[in-house]
Order: sequence, then C-alpha cells, then structure tokens
Amino acid sequence: MTASSTLVVRGGRPLHGTICVSGSKNASLPILAACLLTAEGVQLRNVPRIADTRLMAGILESLGCDVAVEENRVDVRAADLSSSHVGTDLGRGMRASIVLLGPLLGRTGHARLPKPGGDEIGMRRVEQHVRGLSQMGARIEDRGSEIEASAPSGLHGARVVLDMPTVTGTENIVMAAVLAEGRTEILNAALEPHVQDLCRFLVSLGAQIEGIGTDTVVVEGVEALGGGEHAVISDYLEAGTFAIAAAAAGGEVTLECSPPEDLEAPILKLREAGAEVDVQPGLIHLRREGPLRPVDLVTWVHPGYPTDLQAPYTALMTQADGEAVVSEYIFENRFQHVPELVRMGADISMHGRTAVIRGPARLRGGAIRIPDIRAGAAMVIGALCADGETELREAWHIERGYEDMAGKLRQLGAEVELIDAGADERSEHLTYE
Ligand code: EPU
Repeated sequence: MTASSTLVVRGGRPLHGTICVSGSKNASLPILAACLLTAEGVQLRNVPRIADTRLMAGILESLGCDVAVEENRVDVRAADLSSSHVGTDLGRGMRASIVLLGPLLGRTGHARLPKPGGDEIGMRRVEQHVRGLSQMGARIEDRGSEIEASAPSGLHGARVVLDMPTVTGTENIVMAAVLAEGRTEILNAALEPHVQDLCRFLVSLGAQIEGIGTDTVVVEGVEALGGGEHAVISDYLEAGTFAIAAAAAGGEVTLECSPPEDLEAPILKLREAGAEVDVQPGLIHLRREGPLRPVDLVTWVHPGYPTDLQAPYTALMTQADGEAVVSEYIFENRFQHVPELVRMGADISMHGRTAVIRGPARLRGGAIRIPDIRAGAAMVIGALCADGETELREAWHIERGYEDMAGKLRQLGAEVELIDAGADERSEHLTYE
C-alpha cells in the first residue's frame, strides 16, 4: 500500500527565475486547530497544500467540524463537536497535533490525544504545556500512549512563566486562555512569526490578546469567539530554504510573497557568505555568482537564526571555501542530514551539538534516504550542487511541509522530478515533527 515517493534531482545547474512562496505550515496548523474555539464559520486563505494541513483538516472533521478545502482555501465550522478525542491513527502522523490540546480543552473542557514522543530531531518534551495548562485549572493525565486533559469546572487565568520559549507550548496556552475566566500572562513566550499570526487570527475572532510579538503575552478571557476570515502569513522557512538553495547552487532568484522582515538573521548570514540579497516589502531577490565564504552559525529562538533553516545552511556551507562551525541550540539531535551529506562527499565532523564543515566539497549524486522534513531540504540543496543524479527516497517528508517543491525548483530551471508520489507512507513510519 505504500509506493515510495522519490525526488530525482540532476545537479550542477544554477537557479534562475521567480517563484511565489506559499503560506506558512507552522502558522496554518495552530490556526486550523484554533477554529475549534468558535462555533461560527471561519474562512482561511493562503493555507499551503501540503500533507500536514490535509491531515489537520482530517482531524478537525473527525472531531465533528464541517471542513471544506479548495486549493489554498479552507473553510471550517465547528458548530457542534462530536468528540474531543484525537484518534491515534490521525494524531500520531504529526507531532504538531499537540496544538489541539489547548483549543479542545478551552472549548469542551476535555481533550484526549496521542502523546508526542521522542523523535528523530530530539526529545520534543511538552512539560511546559502541561505545567501551564495545569496552572490554569486543567488536570492532565498520562494514559500510556495518550494524554488526557480535563477541566470540569472550566479554565481560569494564571501567570505562566515558561522555562524556555516553546513555540507550540505558547500556542497551546494562548488558545486555552482565550475562553478562560480572567487574565492569563505568559512570560518568556515564543515570538516566532507563526505564533504572532495565530494571535492575530484569534484577535480577529474577538479574542483579547496584548503583547503580540513580545515575550510577554497577556490574554483576557472572553465569553465566546465569533467567525471571520484570515489569510495565513507567508512561510519564511520556505522562503529561507529557497534563498539558501539559490545561494548554494548559484544564480539569481526572486522570491515573491516572501516576508523578508521575518528572515533578518538568515539574510545577514547569506550576505556574509557572499550572496547579494535585496529586499522589498513582500519580496526577496538573491544573486550569487562568486565563491562562498564560510560563516559560523548558532541557532536561536526568533528573531535569531531559526533551527528549521540549520540543515539547509549546513548544506550551503559544504560549498564554502574554508571551515564553518554550525551549532544547534534548540534541538539536541537535529543533524540527521549530516551523515547523508557526508555520503554525498561532504567533509563534516560532529562535536556534540556542533558540526564543523570543511568546504568546498565536490558532492556526488547517488541514492539517499530523507530522514525528516528540514533534513530533506538540506538533501535537495546538496543534490542541486552535486555532480550527476541524486535519488532522494522517502520524499513524503518534503511533501509534509513544502508545497510543490519539485514544481517550484523546475520553475527556477532545476532538473527535478517527483516520482511515485501520493502514497500515504507516514502511517507506517510514524515520525513526529
Ligand atoms: N521543550 C522542552 N519542554 C517543553 C517544550 C519544548 O524542553 O515543554 C524543548 C524541546 O524539546 C526543544 C525546544 O524546547 O528542544 C524547542 O521546542 P519547541 O516547543 O519550541 O518546538 P515545537 O513547538 O515542538 C515548533 C515547530 C518546529 C520548530 C520549533 C522551534 C510547529 C508545528 N513546529 O516545534 O517546526 O522547529 O518550534 O522553532 O510550529 C518544522 O517545521 O520542521 C518543525 C519541526
């Protein structure tokens, strides 16, 4: 039942042309989940057509929502929910299903969903979610492979101090707080662009949220939310991935529908490494012709350099002239791309959470397995720079997060083909991200 999808990339060609960046995966997922908080209809636009948003739409349907998907538009009406239990078959396919915890609890006073376990990029703990929601009056129990949360007397406001600014933890607490009794303060909140977009969406439905885009978010609970329309922000991680790909392969690309203001740290790095980058509102233009310089990198929370663009950057540095040191501080094990890049001919040594990359490496094609979504983007970048043809197996990881990556790369002149697509392999692999 599971034919493999494979991305075949023929390397050695610079990228030239213009593409439009899609809507943000990491904003769409909590925004779709947040539709559970209102009985009124919501119309979402600019939702990327990727496996993860399809899966989230399916989960909402399984809970009793009316969901209509057409191209990049998703209409949701959660008038009467028939269940607050996210089935293991659906929820385990995507680690981000944890963002259903806050809205289900806020709307129904109950939630049961698969427990996010360890995965290929680190432990992915959720104790900050649990502690914050418990402070708000929820009782959360470990039911083996599931988490069950209940708040029979409703949720109340609380002062929640996060040890570290967890993205989905902040989202869960905000979503639980919008219908809670009283005021919730979240200190050390995550301020990634997708967290901000979720908050703006909730405000458009009638939620009272202050401090959006800062590390102190204050939510004053309201009786009910209304309906509305929202256009999801553009995906800065997709824009960053294509910008890094063009810097690595060389050439000149224009990324329309891009949010350069969300990509300040990556753009600084690309300029230091030797790319010319011009930005205008909604647009990034990148050109790279000369040699690449090695530039060290440390991942950090927003507005620092995003962990999701670390793997693509590591692939870029294999082409730089000298030694670059890349340190990953957000996840303890996000270097799955390194052994694969080494198999392609890269010279990389690992020292704990730090990769030392010595370039420029002459990469060569072959058959390699994609281990996770962002590592997959790094493999694609490696393949664009490699001699010959690279077969990237298990390309479903890429389809989870990038809308039509193969088509967009072809639009930029790359020789890329997706074969055997469409099979639902995730049900067998059960990796969480
Ligand atoms: N952490 C804890 N305790 C918690 C929560 C998190 O120790 O209670 C740790 C994690 O183990 C990790 C770090 O804190 O080491 C950061 O985790 P965070 O909770 O911020 O990550 P997340 O919410 O699980 C989201 C994105 C990820 C992105 C990270 C970091 C979504 C759906 N996922 O995950 O995106 O890498 O934030 O920015 O928004 C991806 O798109 O490929 C992806 C994995």
